Amino acid sequence: MTNKNSVTNIGVLTSGGDSPGMNAAIRAVVRTGIYRGLGVYGIMRGYAGMIDDEIIKMDSRSVANIIQRGGTILKTARSKEFLEFSGREKAYNNLKKRGIDGLVIIGGDGSFRGAQQFSKDFDIPCIGLPGTIDKDIAGSDTTIGFDTAVNTAVQAIDKIRDTMDAHDRLFIVEVMGRDAGYIALHSGIATGAENILIPETKTDMEEIICSLTEKEKRKKLVNLIVVAEGDDFGGANNVAKAIKERIPTADTRVCVLGHIQRGGSPTCQDRLIASHMGFYAVESLLSGKRNVMVGVINNKIYYTPLDEAVKQKQKIGQEWMKIVKILTS
Ligand code: F6P
Repeated sequence: MTNKNSVTNIGVLTSGGDSPGMNAAIRAVVRTGIYRGLGVYGIMRGYAGMIDDEIIKMDSRSVANIIQRGGTILKTARSKEFLEFSGREKAYNNLKKRGIDGLVIIGGDGSFRGAQQFSKDFDIPCIGLPGTIDKDIAGSDTTIGFDTAVNTAVQAIDKIRDTMDAHDRLFIVEVMGRDAGYIALHSGIATGAENILIPETKTDMEEIICSLTEKEKRKKLVNLIVVAEGDDFGGANNVAKAIKERIPTADTRVCVLGHIQRGGSPTCQDRLIASHMGFYAVESLLSGKRNVMVGVINNKIYYTPLDEAVKQKQKIGQEWMKIVKILTS
């Protein structure tokens, strides 16, 4: 089954911002690895734990009862030391003394960049699983955690709409996504937001003010704006300030959803893709693959070189923006 490039002991880590479903992915990697006769190690706190030698042997039981839990049992961190060769060398020596000859990295673009450099330095195969709520990685229809984050945002915005309607207010809700607008786009469409502001399209504040002024003249100014934190106009507070300056009578409130979008029990979809990708991470190491990200496109597994996954990002189709305009008019 295995070829000469194959691995005998693998390490799994979570790195960067946590995302719901990371535990399901860890579980899949550990149990598939054990099923395939590999030694499996959990590396605590991402690359930081690899440098500090916080590496533990995993067995099937160590991942029991975690598929439904948010966060990550392996903890996570962003490591500055790993950016230096000396840090990576320390990390490599800790893997070497345990015979770890393959890695599965569950994280976002920064984590994949680290993996690529590490593999270049020490010729160790690295497989990436896209674990981020932002969905800002190319080579997969979705990322582990995105569906949960969007559903959390939708539930929160639905609640905001109740109180917004009761008071005839204008609400500006800011969602996460770093420099990607997917959480805003999906949650905005699903909650019937009148305006969705995302980094991928230029925000025309003049147009928004015009439509709000019109609305105010016709009836009360009840309006929901969902804005991505990375929008070019700035976050929700900037948007509120600009509106207030031009329409001082607007009864405006701001809500920044923040880190609640990162926590909570993963949705069924996130558990499924995490399990699917985790299984294939081990299979791909066994078949000699290296430095690729496991993605799912149309329910099929695809492998994308780590550097492409990071560089290309995902694109938001113009069709979606057209639909948003029609549905909110
Ligand atoms: O990448 C995930 C993410 O939650 C982004 O959406 C957000 O910009 C960032 O991480 C927040 O990072 P931190 O938890 O370090 O504040």
